[in-house]
Amino acid sequence: AERSLQAAFDAAVAADERIEPRDWMPDAYRSTLVRQIAQHAHSEIIGMQPEANWITRAPSLRRKAILMAKVQDEAGHGLYLYGAAETLGTGRDELLDKLHTGRQKYSSIFNYPTLTWADVGAIGWLVDGAAITNQVPLCRCSYGPYARAMVRICKEESFHQRQGYELLLALARGTEAQRAMAQDAVDRWWWPSLMMFGPPDDESAHSAQSMAWKIKRHSNDELRQRFVDICVPQAEALGLTLPDPELRWNEERGHWDFGAIDWQEFREVLKGNGPCNEQRLNQRRAAHENGAWVREAAAAHAAKQAARAAQ
Ligand code: ACO
Repeated sequence: AERSLQAAFDAAVAADERIEPRDWMPDAYRSTLVRQIAQHAHSEIIGMQPEANWITRAPSLRRKAILMAKVQDEAGHGLYLYGAAETLGTGRDELLDKLHTGRQKYSSIFNYPTLTWADVGAIGWLVDGAAITNQVPLCRCSYGPYARAMVRICKEESFHQRQGYELLLALARGTEAQRAMAQDAVDRWWWPSLMMFGPPDDESAHSAQSMAWKIKRHSNDELRQRFVDICVPQAEALGLTLPDPELRWNEERGHWDFGAIDWQEFREVLKGNGPCNEQRLNQRRAAHENGAWVREAAAAHAAKQAARAAQ
């Protein structure tokens, strides 16, 4: 029976059909999805912190309203994704506990500080731009609930990306000090954004299997290259420079060549030694503890409603 279930699963993946929660799936497929979706969900909610840092200091009411909406969107993305993980039989409590105890990762990018207002623009343009490049193919992921969550998330991410670009454009066309602030933010966020796509293909432990399962549709390096190719003309339009002297159009490849990424830095950030790892996790744990009464109140309310309905 196991063999025919496996055959049915393989045939569905080969035919580009969606695997749904009640379908049989190999254990390793399930655990790979939980790993990736959980890491993704954790990234969304940890990612609220660096930008929330600027809500109280946004330079105008318009910018403040936009930024608040954006940070709120990230919370929503976390909810869709924890929901998708739950369809695989893993509870939210368990996933959050793994995040809080360092047993599950979140994206390296959110361990860098937001030092100036221009960082909000650079995050929108580069970090959300990288996220979209990585996530649009996930809309075609073989697992239905994840793929469907990604459709909504990508629509919102593309709005986020544009607000970042527009913010940087305003700074780049502003005073000399504003232009310099925009350039400094791009200088600091460029390389970490390239690291978001994960290790190089020959060091990516999960890529081959995830691509065979059609969870991932493209390799880490393919998506990284796609992102670089998109960003170069956009930087030019902004009048800002990408901090890589080796960026060069390669006629033969039809792509931009770029310089070497500091993978040692990436590994250090993953190990917990990035500039803000400790701060991010401490703040997350504190938010969870401080929110305990809300969860308790919601549970008590639900129990009361259920008891009333049963009367
Ligand atoms: N930050 C932290 N960890 C990373 C990163 C990164 N940028 N890139 C790779 N890793 C981890 C992987 O999770 C894996 O660790 P694990 O085995 O402990 O789980 C390890 O490094 C090896 O990497 P890969 O074999 O390449 O892992 P994978 O096939 O999962 O590919 C990728 C990594 C591309 C990030 C994939 O998981 C993915 O597409 N995830 C969904 C997108 C996502 O998580 N985005 C979050 C940031 S965007 C945002 O929230 C705005």
